[in-house]
Amino acid sequence: MRRALISDIHSNLEALEAVLADIRSQGITEIYCLGDIVGYGPNPRECVDLVMKCDACILGNHDQGALFDPDGFNAGAERAIFWTRDQLENPQGDPEQNALRWDFLGTLPRCLREGEFLFVHGSARNPLNEYVFPEDAYNQRKMDKIFSLIEHYCFQGHTHVPGVFTESRTFLAPDEIGYQFKLNEEKLMVNVGSVGQPRDGDNRSCYVVLDDEKIEFRRVEYDFNITAQKIYDFANLDNFLGDRLRDGR
Ligand SMILES: [Fe+2]
Repeated sequence: MRRALISDIHSNLEALEAVLADIRSQGITEIYCLGDIVGYGPNPRECVDLVMKCDACILGNHDQGALFDPDGFNAGAERAIFWTRDQLENPQGDPEQNALRWDFLGTLPRCLREGEFLFVHGSARNPLNEYVFPEDAYNQRKMDKIFSLIEHYCFQGHTHVPGVFTESRTFLAPDEIGYQFKLNEEKLMVNVGSVGQPRDGDNRSCYVVLDDEKIEFRRVEYDFNITAQKIYDFANLDNFLGDRLRDGR
């Protein structure tokens, strides 16, 4: 099986379309989304419609924020979430399609376990909200605790920083390992990066291809100027949210 793992789309339609085109070129059989379909970006409805066709999807903290009361977000992110909710309520749109989107978001699971593979948005300990940053590789208590909850492999998103955490307390960024990592006996936590708002200094979309032997990080160029301009045109989306797409930060 060859699976694509995408995450943190954040309503960025241009990025999602570019990634889906790349996925089609890769002989992929299944697409899993690890959450944060919406939030920050200008096309929540279109992105939900595309992700609804994926084979599996997990709830992200921004998806939950749009569904319920946003909690723990900074002012800009919260404004974007309320704007996103308005877009999803979409009184001018097709009521049936609106209901389908809400039902889809409202029934997303917080984690998915398939044999030795665990899929979450944040971490195995707190699937929705915990960040595992590269520097946490040195936080032995945190790593020990989270790894103790992982049978073999855990795939996650949330930080928008792709890479591999090994049980031997290292973090490997994709460009340090030739964008590939061979699966072995060791437990791994893999951050699949972000489709719609990369934050590792590379402004290309990121996703992972997982097969029986290895994981591969793929970077995909898209026209972030189009997305940024849409963000600048909506008063409720901070300009910063457009600027950061250009910088990959
Ligand atoms: Fe996110």
